[in-house]
Amino acid sequence: MRDEARIADVLAALTLEEKASLLSGGGAWETAAVERLEIRPAVLTDGPHGVRRQADAEHFSLDASLPATCFPTAAALGSSWDAGLLTEVGEALGAESRAARVAVLLGPGINIKRTPLCGRNFEYLSEDPVVSGQLGAALVRGIQSQGVGASVKHFAANNQETGRMQVSAEADERTLREIYLAGFEHVVTTAAPWTVMAAYNKINGVHAAQNGWLLTRVLREEWGFGGLVMSDWGAVWDPVAAVAAGLDLEMPATGGASAARLVEAVEAGRLDEAVIDQAIARLLTLLDRAAAPGSAGQVDFARHHALARRAAAESAVLLKNEDAILPLDPAAQGTLAVIGEFARTPKFQGAGSSQVSATQVDNALDAIREAAGEHLRISFSPGFRVSGEEDPALLAEAVSAAEAAETAIVFLGLPDGADTEGSDREHINLPDVQLRLLAAVAEVNRNVVVVLANGGVVEVATWERHARAILEGWLNGQAGGGAVADLLFGRANPSGRLAETIPLRLADTPAYLNFPGDGAAVSYGERLYVGYRYYDAKDLPVSYPFGHGLSYTAFAYSGLHVVVDGEGDAAVVRLEATVTNEGPMTGKEVVQVYVGDVASSVDRPARELKAFAKVEIAPGRSARVNFELRARDLSFWSPVHRRWVLEGGDFEVSVGRSSRDRPLTATVTVPAPALARPLTLASTIGEWLADPAAGLVLRHAISAMPGSALASDPTVLQMVESLPLGHLIPMTGGRLDITGIGQFLDQTNGEGS
Ligand code: BGC
Repeated sequence: MRDEARIADVLAALTLEEKASLLSGGGAWETAAVERLEIRPAVLTDGPHGVRRQADAEHFSLDASLPATCFPTAAALGSSWDAGLLTEVGEALGAESRAARVAVLLGPGINIKRTPLCGRNFEYLSEDPVVSGQLGAALVRGIQSQGVGASVKHFAANNQETGRMQVSAEADERTLREIYLAGFEHVVTTAAPWTVMAAYNKINGVHAAQNGWLLTRVLREEWGFGGLVMSDWGAVWDPVAAVAAGLDLEMPATGGASAARLVEAVEAGRLDEAVIDQAIARLLTLLDRAAAPGSAGQVDFARHHALARRAAAESAVLLKNEDAILPLDPAAQGTLAVIGEFARTPKFQGAGSSQVSATQVDNALDAIREAAGEHLRISFSPGFRVSGEEDPALLAEAVSAAEAAETAIVFLGLPDGADTEGSDREHINLPDVQLRLLAAVAEVNRNVVVVLANGGVVEVATWERHARAILEGWLNGQAGGGAVADLLFGRANPSGRLAETIPLRLADTPAYLNFPGDGAAVSYGERLYVGYRYYDAKDLPVSYPFGHGLSYTAFAYSGLHVVVDGEGDAAVVRLEATVTNEGPMTGKEVVQVYVGDVASSVDRPARELKAFAKVEIAPGRSARVNFELRARDLSFWSPVHRRWVLEGGDFEVSVGRSSRDRPLTATVTVPAPALARPLTLASTIGEWLADPAAGLVLRHAISAMPGSALASDPTVLQMVESLPLGHLIPMTGGRLDITGIGQFLDQTNGEGS
């Protein structure tokens, strides 16, 4: 490793021009080089669910890349709720990166799914920051265990594709801290990613890649990030502002234009060269890490394909399963009609920079044929064209196949262009041609199972009566077809859970009236109320709640035991619950812990996910599951105190299988010292009176005003409660003696400083 002294030597040897040239890319997919000092380029490659390594790292292209394993997309992996699995996938991604001489894999994407319309939701993990943060950290750990860096993206508040390069996400600080930054904070503070990628969009008017509050104050000073910050590709508008704000590397190459502006700014005294040196030091550290010796052995693609299959099976969510129609019996007699083009031509990834050239692709049709016993006849009819074009002959053929079968498995999904980088969806419906097919099939066959392939959620309310079971497969990677067959025939037991609520209709979604803004700005007016936080606050019915997912077995919850230790910022809440597998087969349950503040001085969501664990339990057996919550898990971000605040009092802790199905609940009291609101002359009379010490001082001053109605009539005092104290003082014409108030302010300001 290059130690600090070595870095200082290199810095001293570099000319200003060379330094400036290192702060933007050397090509489309690599950092710049300085041959004379043996500073060699490092390759940066997408990401996130497979290695999209272009043979030519110098030039920009999204064309065919070298073959790599296409793992399930983040929409799928997020639904696995399985940190161990994500670490395994990360290890495989890291190994493939290393073998392809990639220094940094551009992922994971951990932006919050603010609206189901976001075209890139398939690249993101969840609507919830705890799921995004914990699973994102697990991926980073896995990738980096192979000596390859991760790039956590897109930092931050990049929640839509519409106007993504210019739009300003207008959000209050509490919303940013609690929802949009919390996942990044968790990854940065627990998994130490080598790099973070600054997003395209603005946040409250300032581009993320040029945002000093975001990149320096929050990321480095508060969270202690020690790695390198790179820009998203083309996210920098003003390279001088970017470097000054804390950006270390602009990507991709700019043909020397940015370097020239940096040199000019330093020479004109507008940019301190020390700031450039700091960025260079971080870049050199990254290059050293990437060059550290390690094995870049042969990749076992067959093993990675098997892992991709297991990951896809762990990620699929069984939404409904009436009369236990699933799993199918492979030894059954009769005919199984497989319907839908997606069974033969799988839709397993989205479009854009994340697109991987898969090493091989399994389709569900072949896998079903392989899994079925010799007595089960499998018919196949495509039913529709993926392009959406109407073909009555295809529909008629599928209907007669369904009529002739005991059970029909109908593969439906989103068309090309729906799950894509660069544009958002306009609605969340499946194509009409597919829904007409489903309705026609359901008319002739009562045993319909729907398998879905989509990166963002689709509306199910208007058609789900046609299906007795729905398996949400997501965009499940190159081995997804095999995984679907494993699940349909019970070789794997469904254990995915929704990391995103399925709403009844688009108009119910939290950002419906604010999204996508006017091109210049988008208001995050729904504030903290994203996903289930919103549906729960409004008590809205949903199709399937956050956290939901069925299994072929059944789990019962009992024995919640909660203990509180310590108080205030040192408080720890330890809980234990028992989960019993009461069904017929081994299965995995995702045990979810939600916390709600019973009475708070600020408005808070009724409950929020704070911990989860996926546990495997054999039939008839129980597992005791333990969790530990920290003060931060009970706190809110206070814009007044500019910190996380735990208000002492009662908290409802509930444990269960979804945000809406929590069989175990306990209320615990967590002590915390009262945190006084800082009082100033701008604080209202009501706020002064509510504070015991300040109230005493003010009441004393008021009662000393001879003949004042304020002193004698409580209703008058009540009327002026919303008035800032500083406004009242001149209104009393000097009769209010402010000596005590002044002393109080001097004293408390002194204490606070
Ligand atoms: C995307 C990033 C990606 C980069 C490089 C950008 O357009 O937003 O996610 O890593 O391109 O391909």
